[in-house]
Amino acid sequence: MKVPLLDLKAQYATIKNEVLAAVNDVLDSQVCILGPKVAELEQSIAALSDCKFGVGVSSGTDALLASLMALDIGPGDEVITSTFTFFATAGCISRTGALPVFVDIDPRNYNMNPSLIEEAITPRTKAIIPVHLYGQMCDMDPIMEIAKRHNLYVIEDAAQAISSTYKGRKAGSIGTVGCFSFFPSKNLGGAGDGGMVVTNDPALHERLTVMRAHGSKPKYYHKYVGGNFRLDPLQAAILLVKLPYLDAWSAARRRNADLYDQAFAGSNIQTPWINPDCVSIFNQYVIRVSDREMLIQVLKQESVGSEVYYPVPMHQQECFAGKCRTHGSMIESELAAKTVLALPIYPELTNEMIMFVCGAVLEATVPA
Ligand SMILES: Cc1ncc(COP(=O)(O)O)c(C=O)c1O
Repeated sequence: MKVPLLDLKAQYATIKNEVLAAVNDVLDSQVCILGPKVAELEQSIAALSDCKFGVGVSSGTDALLASLMALDIGPGDEVITSTFTFFATAGCISRTGALPVFVDIDPRNYNMNPSLIEEAITPRTKAIIPVHLYGQMCDMDPIMEIAKRHNLYVIEDAAQAISSTYKGRKAGSIGTVGCFSFFPSKNLGGAGDGGMVVTNDPALHERLTVMRAHGSKPKYYHKYVGGNFRLDPLQAAILLVKLPYLDAWSAARRRNADLYDQAFAGSNIQTPWINPDCVSIFNQYVIRVSDREMLIQVLKQESVGSEVYYPVPMHQQECFAGKCRTHGSMIESELAAKTVLALPIYPELTNEMIMFVCGAVLEATVPA
């Protein structure tokens, strides 16, 4: 049996006709830039996220970049985020000319540790970017309290966490803005790159809308230096086909996570810890083991896909040498980088496939 980390073809097979019809509609309309499909998706994702506004953008990366630009963050400013994240979070801070300031994670769920944020704040700090890693939201109450006390923006990096909740509140709806990615491996993935910013602030919505079209309004009159951050209407049309399935797909991922949890109970494998305040969408199911290299080798032999998200924390990336600040020890992130491993969790996995993965993992990790 082969179990890939992700099987996009399995999902496509279930919606192929709907997707092809939607793509055909856009092509027939020849509305190739923005238009009604993008507007419809913006309204739908905003509603899903309990927000007033959505702005469709070209990727999750550009959602973060456009948000930072719309909040006027740039040279001389500092932005606090987690060192244990995908590069885009930190890369976008740097690209604005601001300084990324990294804090360590809570080792239980790999999200930024809110108790480390306040001491990292300086008079230059403008914003905090909590990253809702693997589909589970950060502990947002303390983060929002700190942000309020210090008058900071909060940009939720919800690239991996669309429609997940914290105390019943949706990802993206708690901070100043929320940023989503429609990268194909996400729970709601397009057939290419795409992203969205959500917000409840009408002025920010207007600014983001202008920012994604070169900062121009009206056309050819540039109030800001923006970029071409527009979401492609073909992607919007495909995402609109997929959106009604999102809840069921995320529920299937949770069911798969439960099966893994049960199978690994009593072993020396550390399974994901989900904060009782959160409902995770399990964009990834990430375990921790002491001998990760051996596990990876066994899984490879058994044709089971796995991946390390992420092997190098941001403060250790070459490109940030001398171009970031860390606050305190980064030991938990460094340890996580050495021990985490993501297993297949996609919704179309069968019970047999999951049991096969469990067998391979246990074979490699349970002492004889
Ligand atoms: C935490 C996080 N932030 C940002 C991004 C960037 O999204 P995109 O790949 O759509 O640019 C990703 C994508 O993988 C991500 O996982």
